[in-house]
Amino acid sequence: MSYITLALAKGRTAKSTITLLENTGIQFKDFHEDSRKLVFYDSDKTIKVVFVKAVDVPTYVEKGAADIGIVGKDNILESQADVYEMLDLKLGKCKFVVAGKIGSTLEKKQKLTIASKYPTIAKKFFQKINQPIETVKLNGSVELAPLIGLADYIVDIVETGNTINENGLTILEEIEDISTRLIVNKASFATKSDNIRQFINRLKSVLE
Ligand code: PRP
Ligand code: MG
Repeated sequence: MSYITLALAKGRTAKSTITLLENTGIQFKDFHEDSRKLVFYDSDKTIKVVFVKAVDVPTYVEKGAADIGIVGKDNILESQADVYEMLDLKLGKCKFVVAGKIGSTLEKKQKLTIASKYPTIAKKFFQKINQPIETVKLNGSVELAPLIGLADYIVDIVETGNTINENGLTILEEIEDISTRLIVNKASFATKSDNIRQFINRLKSVLE
């Protein structure tokens, strides 16, 4: 029996993604929110799910280690992976922003220092507005950087706004809206076309 391998992002959107899949009639009896298991199958053994770090999902799909991935647009953009983006699952809605200390404005200077988990996105945005930058790649708690003088501004994700608000920052520029997307490996889309199309159509029907 052939199955498709689906790379899912661990973390915030995992539960809602599994729920969405279950709404299409696919059953994941082995999935428990607090389980440490990284691989499991649906009850019909047509889908093998591998749970990976969100940032790695585009890599799994680009390299063909997974046929399909479900992950935030933020990680797809940052990875620049060569994959097909086929569907917006409209989960995990948030946006990319430039943020700085309350009271500040986005001032241009010879070179700005930008802290981010997303240096590629930061570079692209500032290139567009002709502002040279130096990026400081951080892996979390990015909001600290302007407060302790590590960077002039940050490029990060805002969902509820709580994190920037509670740390004395404010949005200076909105870059792009983000949500969870379904991506497909290019070779798999040719070799497993029927299975993949069927899977996408099932998802589409519950999204409508
Ligand atoms: C993310 C993001 C923001 C925050 C946005 O961080 O980097 O800091 O969530 O959400 P909010 O607007 O609802 O507060 P995350 O919680 O993933 O932690 P990390 O950046 O330290 O990894
Ligand atoms: Mg954060």
